[in-house]
Amino acid sequence: MIKVQGLTKSFGRQQVLRGLDLEVPTGSITVIIGRSGGGKSVLLKHLIGLLHPDAGRVLVDGVEITGLRGRALDEIRQRYGVVFQGGALFDSMRCAENVAFPLREKLHLPRPEIVRRVEAALHQVGLEGMGAKYPAEISGGMRKRVAIARALVTEPEIVFFDEPTTGLDPILVNTIHHLILDLHQKFRFTAVMVSHEIPEIFEIADTVAMLHEGRIAEVGPPPAIQASSNPVVRQFIRGEPENAEGR
Ligand SMILES: Nc1ncnc2c1ncn2[C@@H]1O[C@H](COP(=O)(O)OP(=O)(O)OP(=O)(O)O)[C@@H](O)[C@H]1O
Ligand SMILES: [Mg+2]
Repeated sequence: MIKVQGLTKSFGRQQVLRGLDLEVPTGSITVIIGRSGGGKSVLLKHLIGLLHPDAGRVLVDGVEITGLRGRALDEIRQRYGVVFQGGALFDSMRCAENVAFPLREKLHLPRPEIVRRVEAALHQVGLEGMGAKYPAEISGGMRKRVAIARALVTEPEIVFFDEPTTGLDPILVNTIHHLILDLHQKFRFTAVMVSHEIPEIFEIADTVAMLHEGRIAEVGPPPAIQASSNPVVRQFIRGEPENAEGR
């Protein structure tokens, strides 16, 4: 469903993506791992069309989105849900208004339908009755759950999660992972997730892709990644410190 071919992106002199290839099968949960600052969020932003590559392409169901702008891009984005790194809730809006936002902006649904869907979405993430609170009035874990509810409320075909659990306690990490798995089983969306949660992500991913030096160094199902003989992958998933060359 999502195909990335030769994606290349620099910021000034810094080459972040260096001809990256990746395929994300329809209905799968694909988790992207890799070093902090390695370009995972940059990759995700290309998939969403927030960044345009210097070279290479992103195809969604065979349609190249890399050159799209304006309305054509909006149409593709209608099918997306996005949980940004840090949640990115609107602080001046109540939680329910945050969740309602894509229904109003993207789907232009009538009010009673919006209210019904927002209540259902908050219920799904275990936050029923919290809709009237502002983001500043709830905990970090609850904010993440509101962000997930907002991403899923439109019942998107494809959902992007950029570190949905970073900074949460271990119980909440598992709670959010199970929430994502439950919702995935219900709605069968295609998920692309960036995560640092090792080893937890091996339990929810269908496919794990390791980003290293601007390319996917290895991709495969969790058991293959866990048993990988690639030193880059082994070092990363074991959390071994860098050696003298800084690799
Ligand atoms: N808009 C931008 N302008 C300039 N440089 C950028 C921009 N966006 C990202 N970068 C640079 O690209 C590199 C990769 O950033 P990115 O946010 O993708 O890392 P990451 O892999 O998501 O890291 P983390 O795990 O810490 O979130 C960083 O060095 C960052 O400074
Ligand atoms: Mg990031």
